Amino acid sequence: MSFSLRMDRVKASAIRAVQKRIASKPGVISFAAGLPDPALYPLADITEATDRLLAQEGRKALSYGLTKGYGPLLELLVQRMKDKEGVECGLENLTITSGSQQGLALSAMMFVDEGDVVIAENPSYLGGINACRPYGPVFMGVDTDEDGMVMEDLERVLRETPRAKMIYVIPNFQNPTGKAWTLERRKRFMEIVSQYDIMVVEDNPYGEIRFKGEHLPCLKSMDTKGQVVYLGSFSKILSPGLRVAWICAAPEVAAMAERLKEGMDLQCNEFTQMMTVYYLQKYDIEAHIRHIQATYKARCDLMLEQIAKHFPASVKYTNPEGGMFIWLELPENLNADELLDEAIDAGVAYIPGEFFYANNGPKNTIRMNFTTVSDEDIIKGIEILGNVFKKHAQ
Ligand SMILES: Cc1ncc(COP(=O)(O)O)c(C=O)c1O
Repeated sequence: MSFSLRMDRVKASAIRAVQKRIASKPGVISFAAGLPDPALYPLADITEATDRLLAQEGRKALSYGLTKGYGPLLELLVQRMKDKEGVECGLENLTITSGSQQGLALSAMMFVDEGDVVIAENPSYLGGINACRPYGPVFMGVDTDEDGMVMEDLERVLRETPRAKMIYVIPNFQNPTGKAWTLERRKRFMEIVSQYDIMVVEDNPYGEIRFKGEHLPCLKSMDTKGQVVYLGSFSKILSPGLRVAWICAAPEVAAMAERLKEGMDLQCNEFTQMMTVYYLQKYDIEAHIRHIQATYKARCDLMLEQIAKHFPASVKYTNPEGGMFIWLELPENLNADELLDEAIDAGVAYIPGEFFYANNGPKNTIRMNFTTVSDEDIIKGIEILGNVFKKHAQ
């Protein structure tokens, strides 16, 4: 098969390979998922809304629509960006995308040439990194601490890297670590990047899943030069299968994204865009988000409590204020990928953290998901995992 040369750079996701490895062992308690809890999709409301929408505007919902997106959805997002994020934008700043994953793919296509440098947090969301790979960039990781991206490291990388073209960041409850950047880090980040001709892709799928602490402004709200491409999504607050998300960016960027989409998929799904508007107008999404926050907070707190009880003291872990993940750091001599087989045999699974690094990552880290696991399984699974770790660490 003679694929294009670019296809040599497209790699199968290492995370999916681990998930397949786990799926082949039924009965294992899995902390390896990267999904919202399906039990929290507002299924009854969506069923009712679907029936009503099809009865009222069925032919329109099943027709072609505009590439940029469904007008009422765009208008609603102008208001939502203002109310929720303090971002003053207009229709010219928006394009609807099929998940924020398409926003990542479009950003990579728009900004990355072969040999350009893409900067990402160390670790980062593999889907963001993989979206860039076909275009042949060099990846550079910038370290993170408990306050977010380390600014001294970012300054050094920017100073030493003339071809730095794009920075990909997840300032809220990052996948995979669950960390959120402090306000100081956000402000300092914007001060630094505004001195460079570089695009920032701010991926914010978890921003509304804050269950502790106070809301912090997004980078886009501090963007005075049109450098930030903000990616929002309904996947984690409504349902990922609807594939409704958006880009909020400088008008030239939103227009370019629209032009690219024309050749890619013509438009996003008209029906699910209309459904999203219908749901937001007729149902109480804020109450629904509060329910998601409370459910995830309880699961996260329970997991943290059980970790404190059962893991050896040498295992460090994050204490997230939102999102879906806790990040573990084992003693340096341990290899999380090698330990996974032992954990699966004992009845528990996780994702080794090394797969979330653009380049080689440390072997002793782990991503733990708490959104798709029952209380009973959290209690049982963390004890089992603690026993596996205790065999190898103090
Ligand atoms: C950081 C991050 N960005 C983007 C996505 C993709 O989300 P969407 O369903 O909006 O495409 C995910 C999905 O888990 C994610 O974790």
